[in-house]
Amino acid sequence: MDKIKIIGGRPLTGQIRISGAKNAALPLMCASLLTNEPLILKNLPQLADVFTLGSVLSHLGVKTTYKGEAVGDHQATFHAQGPILPEAPYDLVRKMRASVLVLGPLVARLGYAKVSLPGGCAIGSRPVDIHLKGLEALGTDITLEDGYVIAQAKNGLKGAEFSFPTITVTGTENILMAAVLAQGTTRLLNCAVEPEVTDLARCLQTMGAKIEGIGTPILTITGVSSLHGTSYSVLPDRIETGTYAMAAGITGGEIELISTNLDLIPTASQTLEMMGMSFKKTDQGFIAKGPSRRLQAAEIVTDPYPGFATDLQAQIMALACVAEGVSFITETIFENRFMHVPELARMGADITIKGNTAIIKGTQHLKGAPVMATDLRASVSLVLAALSSSEETMVNRVYHLDRGYEELENKLSACGAIIERVREGSTHDISETAQTFKAAG
Ligand code: EPZ
Repeated sequence: MDKIKIIGGRPLTGQIRISGAKNAALPLMCASLLTNEPLILKNLPQLADVFTLGSVLSHLGVKTTYKGEAVGDHQATFHAQGPILPEAPYDLVRKMRASVLVLGPLVARLGYAKVSLPGGCAIGSRPVDIHLKGLEALGTDITLEDGYVIAQAKNGLKGAEFSFPTITVTGTENILMAAVLAQGTTRLLNCAVEPEVTDLARCLQTMGAKIEGIGTPILTITGVSSLHGTSYSVLPDRIETGTYAMAAGITGGEIELISTNLDLIPTASQTLEMMGMSFKKTDQGFIAKGPSRRLQAAEIVTDPYPGFATDLQAQIMALACVAEGVSFITETIFENRFMHVPELARMGADITIKGNTAIIKGTQHLKGAPVMATDLRASVSLVLAALSSSEETMVNRVYHLDRGYEELENKLSACGAIIERVREGSTHDISETAQTFKAAG
């Protein structure tokens, strides 16, 4: 398994191009199932999760062709011309829990789907009960058998009113994709308003879907009989944006983030300003500047968008570890999203957990240490912590990073970071995965 070696302690300065959003690319790829015409997705990030979902779609019968190599110019065509298989097996879904996003489109397209329940993951049990309730509201019969969801809509989906009991991002996306081909009108209440949901809705509109209220918690969808293909560019990744802005913050550097915009991280940027960072919009994005003196402590509570993103919680905790004062970080979305805490403690961080709140007493410097990545965002939190320490840190199990950060080492070393990937044993090499995927297309 690959490792990443970092020797930090120096300000990062330069420019980083932000990639397309992983959490927009995944639902957009699944939208290809809603039409028998080609869906072209531009600015598609080269990530393990994208390739894994691509293999699920290939299994279902979606023809995929990939082109473009450099960050920002990747694009792929997903063509679900047919025949489309209705079954997404466990051995594929377990690798990529977002595969549950094929459920809504398959039921909408075929009237039937058999999709493995995704199971939990490191950060929580991750149930999909609300996805299923939403499909039932649209006239789907749902049964669970041997760990599979069997969804049948013999007479097609029917428009209905459905209110999400909890704000769920992929839940909103799944039901939205089902509703666009339902007979009649669907009204969805308490929808997630994350930018990735908006990106999906906008793409569906360009495919001929009739959706009102985009960007608000109330979506009204008038079903159509079919959708056509389109070409659509994936929006910038706001979590990557926030992560690299924090790299400037924790190293006291100055990084211009391009192909993105500051408005994607409203609460995080406000919090970072209170901690001592400054931001300046530019034609291509914005400049994130670390404080001339020490970062200041902060109080953070994660919340659905536009609140503080749970996917940035681990990262800002790294900054809190070296900030002056005591910070409080409360995680309200997932029940087990503090696995970066013991690893940060190995680097000398002083963190106490009380329920779903982490209390962080800032220390002047973190020590280098061998640490273990446990999930996608926890792993990048360790990278940020390592960038602040002038000692050597080895981050193990970096395949977690490859799921959500395209060319992380290249982007950081271009800003002066001393960072290198150490390939060990059977490398889970993303380029191999990419090649396999492209060959399969
Ligand atoms: C999406 O996950 C993101 N993943 C996550 O990003 C992100 O952390 C999360 O939204 C919250 O913003 C993708 O978009 C692919 P939820 P999702 O459904 O949709 C509960 C990353 O690091 N819930 O919004 O699975 C759930 O347990 C990943 O990129 C139910 O109870 O999250 C959680 O407490 C991690 N029943 C809350 O809702 C359901 O049927 C929000 O989860 C669905 C969700």
